[in-house]
Amino acid sequence: MDAVINTTTNFENDTLIVGVPEHLNQLESIKVGDDELSDLLSPLKQHHILSTNIGKISSTFFKIGEKTHKLISVGLGNIKTLEYSDYLKIFGNVFQALKQSRVDQATLVFDSFKSHQHTNQTIAEILGQQSEQSIYTFDGYKTNKSAPYQLKLAIHTKDQSISESVEQGHAIATAINLARDYSNIPPNILTPAYYADLIQQHFSETEVIVDVKDSVTLQSEGFGLVHAVGKASKQGPRIITLTYNGGRPGDNPIALVGKGITYDSGGYSIKSKTGMQTMKFDMCGSSNVIGMIEAARQLALPINIVGVIAAAENMINEEAMKPDDVYTALSGESVEVLNTDAEGRLVLGDAVFYANQFEPQVILDFATLTGAAVAALGEDKAAVFNKNATTSLNAILEQAKTMDEMVFELPMTATEQALIRKSAVADLVNHTNGQGKALFAATFINHFAGDTPHLHFDIAGPATTNQPSYKGPAGPTGYLILSIVQWLRTL
Ligand code: BES
Ligand code: MN
Ligand code: ZN
Repeated sequence: MDAVINTTTNFENDTLIVGVPEHLNQLESIKVGDDELSDLLSPLKQHHILSTNIGKISSTFFKIGEKTHKLISVGLGNIKTLEYSDYLKIFGNVFQALKQSRVDQATLVFDSFKSHQHTNQTIAEILGQQSEQSIYTFDGYKTNKSAPYQLKLAIHTKDQSISESVEQGHAIATAINLARDYSNIPPNILTPAYYADLIQQHFSETEVIVDVKDSVTLQSEGFGLVHAVGKASKQGPRIITLTYNGGRPGDNPIALVGKGITYDSGGYSIKSKTGMQTMKFDMCGSSNVIGMIEAARQLALPINIVGVIAAAENMINEEAMKPDDVYTALSGESVEVLNTDAEGRLVLGDAVFYANQFEPQVILDFATLTGAAVAALGEDKAAVFNKNATTSLNAILEQAKTMDEMVFELPMTATEQALIRKSAVADLVNHTNGQGKALFAATFINHFAGDTPHLHFDIAGPATTNQPSYKGPAGPTGYLILSIVQWLRTL
């Protein structure tokens, strides 16, 4: 979006966008030409031409002086009880409607969207965010591409200071859309090596340093679990390390670790033909980590971050790992592989152990890890597992609640601690035939974090959606980028 902040009382564009509260007397005084906006809206509301239901778009025309304008309105409901998520819906619906009818120039009457509980900055940030996030599309591989769409929006307000907030919201959305782009690329193209190249290119002109370890390096440096998962593919695995130092030198970084399985066939513990579909999305945890770092960079957050992406393709050839194999992890411990489809915990075991070498204050990992987490919580909720990181967890849960991203805690107990050690031949085992598989997987990964505070997010359900909404189309969602970035801003 091309946002132009306009502080005059002239309305030169043909299209005006206004928010309409349930009670028009909740609108502050806004002069449109010689008239009060609420006086102009009142008859339209009375005749039910404009709806005041939250997020409901209506459109009509009206006159200012001699000039006829198209009026696009969005219902605000009772603005005394408007929540952050309501604003996401309100602006998401506005920008989707504008795109739908290919409106390319409009004036948004910002002051009609105000409410007492939220600052102009917050509202402006959501506006900026949804101007990009809600209208995301990916048609990179269609020969018949949709025409590019660009909106020139004049934001009509007396408060000049909101332009920075609009830009910040915009930055967060471009980070979410970047993650969605990586996730959408087909797996024959987005191999671990190509993924590493894209990431390197993306950050090449920025202060983010990207380091890539190739397959040979990983093997020689002892990343035995990453290597084991990736070795059955011509497209060898990569560990991609990103360093963003916006904080003071010596400040312990936040470690963000992502599962980047560019395709999960299951390996010899092969998936069913329908279970395998969509397994290109098994790298969403990692692309979301890229999105978080991209947002942190654009917002110039005063913190240090280290990102570790474990990228590998879980395939089958004569070299492939087999159920019963034993490999040595980066930690030096031996791991028995009883199920080759439980590959995420293997690559993350090494990645988390490696991230811990950077002496992080806390490690967060993001992974489309288990169908069991989806069975427990449904497709629209993430599971989180906490070890020694209660302060961070509570702060993140609070953000997630506000940001309309559902996350619920599941436990790691002595039961799982015992189960991950239940191998007849090795120190650890990657699989249990029993129930509680999400807990088992989380505990396996946590084992490699040592005593460092650690949160594991299992996003197998909400990493993608088949339900288009005001947040955007079906497909990858960039789940938790928003909540984590808002949390990082508070540090
Ligand atoms: N990538 C899958 C988990 C997954 C399943 C993500 C469905 C999104 C949708 C993971 O690698 C996997 O295969 N997990 C297995 C583990 C099992 C073998 C213990 C699962 O959950 O079935
Ligand atoms: Mn798997
Ligand atoms: Zn997987």
